[in-house]
Amino acid sequence: TKDQYILGIETSCDETAASIVKNGHEIISNVVASQIESHKRFGGVVPEIASRHHVEQITIVIEEALNKANMTPKDIDAVAVTEGPGLVGALLIGINAAKAFAFANGLPLVGVHHIAGHIYANALVQPMEFPLLALVVSGGHTELVVMKEDGQFELIGETRDDAAGEAYDKVARVLNLPYPGGPHIDRLANESDGAVPFPRAWLEEGSYDFSFSGLKSSVINYQHNAEQRGEEINPNHLAAGFQQSVVEVLTAKTLRAAREFKVKQVIAAGGVAANKGLRTSLVQTFAKENIPFFVPPISLCTDNAAMIAAAGNSMFSVGKTGDLSMNGRPGLEL
Ligand code: KG4
Ligand code: ZN
Repeated sequence: TKDQYILGIETSCDETAASIVKNGHEIISNVVASQIESHKRFGGVVPEIASRHHVEQITIVIEEALNKANMTPKDIDAVAVTEGPGLVGALLIGINAAKAFAFANGLPLVGVHHIAGHIYANALVQPMEFPLLALVVSGGHTELVVMKEDGQFELIGETRDDAAGEAYDKVARVLNLPYPGGPHIDRLANESDGAVPFPRAWLEEGSYDFSFSGLKSSVINYQHNAEQRGEEINPNHLAAGFQQSVVEVLTAKTLRAAREFKVKQVIAAGGVAANKGLRTSLVQTFAKENIPFFVPPISLCTDNAAMIAAAGNSMFSVGKTGDLSMNGRPGLEL
């Protein structure tokens, strides 16, 4: 059978990305233009600024993905693009670029769910085995997804308030750390010789949902009370206490789900999957449990277009294509 080359495009948040993936698992090129520097001084992603950057970068990034692969549009079999969820203005830039590329070159168009993309990042590293459990933790998401087979997703738990990465970024702000704060909290926690005891949000018995806003408030109150007493807080102890609470709950719920759904593989995905404390905890837990556990390399954990191409390849292979009426869907369900 003929090799299948997918051009992936991702613009749902603050990365403008394009990539070419062969047969759903081999990265031929992977280009990411990050906007972090432009959003840093605002302490978060500003939608209007994100859209403007995407407009400036999108054609450059797509051309670079083709050039690095030494390919022309004639070599591409289909265009996969993030359809949602995400910032609508940002999504529309990628979708319109994908539509134009598909129309001009007579190619099929595939709309990909951003979270499906994060999960399929794993297909770029090792074959996915089903039933599979995915923990997707990023700046916008905290989700537990069971895949009984390829292309089939069951959302079994999600955050009821802040996403894990969002909580990291907000706690980082309490400590005056730059955006995005996750990696800084991770570093402080790893260098710590103690931890403030913060609460764990287990929610109702049996629930796979998450909640991080209570923990975030505890951290803010702790800092506030110390300030009022004129005491200096130990940032390492605060970061370590926060991280322990997040990691313990994420690990315990992932383990319980892995057992209940008798999965053959557990994967972590999304920017927070880069967290050292979380990786260590999950690796140790699933080694003991004897369930294969994988996390893609950091460059594939954070937003990129190779993961969108990989997910798009799986959809394209079974004829799940879209058309030129595709629209940005900020609240798209998995
Ligand atoms: O997947 P991603 O790049 O973008 C979204 O789709 O949201 O995730 C970004 C998020 C940010 O909140 C960032 O603080 C967090 O991932 N993050 C981390 C770490 N590295 C990135 N959080 C905790 N520990 C890290 N090492
Ligand atoms: Zn993401």
